[in-house]
Amino acid sequence: MIKYNNDLLYVEDLSLKEIAKDKPTPFYVYSLQQMRRNIDIINETFEGLNFHISFAAKANNNLYILEALKDMGVGIDIVSKGEFEAAKRVGFTNEYVVVNGNAKSDAFLREMLTYQPRGLNIDSPEELERLSEICVQTERGIKVALRVNPDVDPITHPYISTGLKKNKFGMDLETAAAVIKQYHSHPYIQINGLHLHIGSQLLYISPYEDAYSKVYDFISSLETHNLTYINIGGGWGIDYHKQGQDFPVEEYKEKVIPILKRFNMDLILEMGRYIIGNAGILVSKVEYIKRTPFKSFIVSDASMADLIRPSLYDGYHHIYPVTKDGEEELPFDVVGPICETGDRFAEDRIMTTPIVGDYIAICDTGAYGFAMSSNYNFTLRPAEYLIKDKGLVEIRPREDFDELVSYYKPEVL
Ligand code: LLP
Repeated sequence: MIKYNNDLLYVEDLSLKEIAKDKPTPFYVYSLQQMRRNIDIINETFEGLNFHISFAAKANNNLYILEALKDMGVGIDIVSKGEFEAAKRVGFTNEYVVVNGNAKSDAFLREMLTYQPRGLNIDSPEELERLSEICVQTERGIKVALRVNPDVDPITHPYISTGLKKNKFGMDLETAAAVIKQYHSHPYIQINGLHLHIGSQLLYISPYEDAYSKVYDFISSLETHNLTYINIGGGWGIDYHKQGQDFPVEEYKEKVIPILKRFNMDLILEMGRYIIGNAGILVSKVEYIKRTPFKSFIVSDASMADLIRPSLYDGYHHIYPVTKDGEEELPFDVVGPICETGDRFAEDRIMTTPIVGDYIAICDTGAYGFAMSSNYNFTLRPAEYLIKDKGLVEIRPREDFDELVSYYKPEVL
C-alpha cells in the first residue's frame, strides 16, 4: 500500500506530498483497500469454519472506520459504554456486537440484559454473580461466554500479554469448570461460550496452539455443558519492522485451524491490529534537523501525544521520508515537540536524511494510534483521512482549540 514512485512516497495511488501540501500536520491517513485486503486474508484462513469476525474497536474508534467495516460485514467488539454508543451510532445491530471488559458496571450489565448482544464475555465469577443478581431482580435472561485464562506465554510485550495467570483477565480453567457446573441449570443465565484472548502483536503460532489445545482439553473434560461457541480473541501481529515478518498465516492454517475444527463449534474472532494496523500512516512535518556533537535529530511536529506506542512499549514504527532526495543514510533520533525525553519515535534509526519543511510517514499506525492519542502539552489531536475509491475523505477534522476549552467559563470561580 506504501511505495516510492520517482522518489515520492505514495499510499495506494495518492502521493503523500500532494495530500499533505495544503493540510495542517500531523494527520493520519488510512486505506480502505488495505483494510479489505486484511479482511480477505482472515476470511480465507477460516474458510470452511463457521466464524464471525468482530473488530476490536479499541484499536481504532473513528466512526467512519467502524461504518466502513460494518459495510464489509464485520461485527464489533466493544469494551466500554463509549464504544457501545459508537457501535449503535454507526448502525451495528445487536447480532454484530460482542461485549468485553473486566469492570462492567451495574448499569452497563442492566443495559446488556435489554440489548442482548451477540456475545457477552464475563471476566470473573464476581462479575457473573452481579449479573445473576440483576437477572433475578429484572427477571430477564441472557447467554454469556466465560473468559478463561489458559496461562500461556504469548511471547509479546508484557504490557499487551493477557493470557498468563498473573494477568488480570479471565478465570483459570479450574474456576471456569466450577462456574460452569454452578450455573448449569440457572434460571436466567446460560453459559454458551468460552472466550480467550492471550495477547496482542503475536507473531508466533505456538501460543495459539497451546491455548486452543488447552481449551479443547478443558471442554472435553467437562461432564456437562451448554457451550456452542468459542471466542478465540484476536492478537495477530503485523510486520512493524518491514522485514517480512508478517503474521504466519500459512503456519496458522496448518497448525491452528485443525485444532479449531476439532471443537466443532461456532467461532468468534476479535481482531484489531491485523485489520487496521498496516492500513494507517501518521504524516508529520520535519521542523528541524538538529545536529549536536553527539547525535542528529529529526525534529518532527508529531509527538507522543499523537502516537504513544514508541514511548509506551518501545514500539517500532518504520519511518520513511516522503521525498527521497538521495542524501546519504545516517543514524537519526526521530523526536517530537513534547517536553519529555521519551517523546521519540525512533533512536539511532538509519534513514535517508529528510528535507526540512518536507514530511515523514510513520507507518503501521492504523491501530492504537489515534485511539491512544491525548492532548498532553495541550496539543490538538490530528485530523484523520480515509482513502476511498482513489479519493481522499476527511473523516475527522483536526481538533479545535475553542471546542477543547469550551468547558471553561471565566465566571465560574
Ligand atoms: N480482544 C480483547 C479482549 C482485547 O483485549 C484485545 C486487545 C483484542 C481483542 C484485539 O487485539 P488485537 O487483535 O488488536 O491484537 N495498545 C496496545 C495493544 C493493546 C491491546 C488490547 N487488547 C498496542 O498499541 O500495542
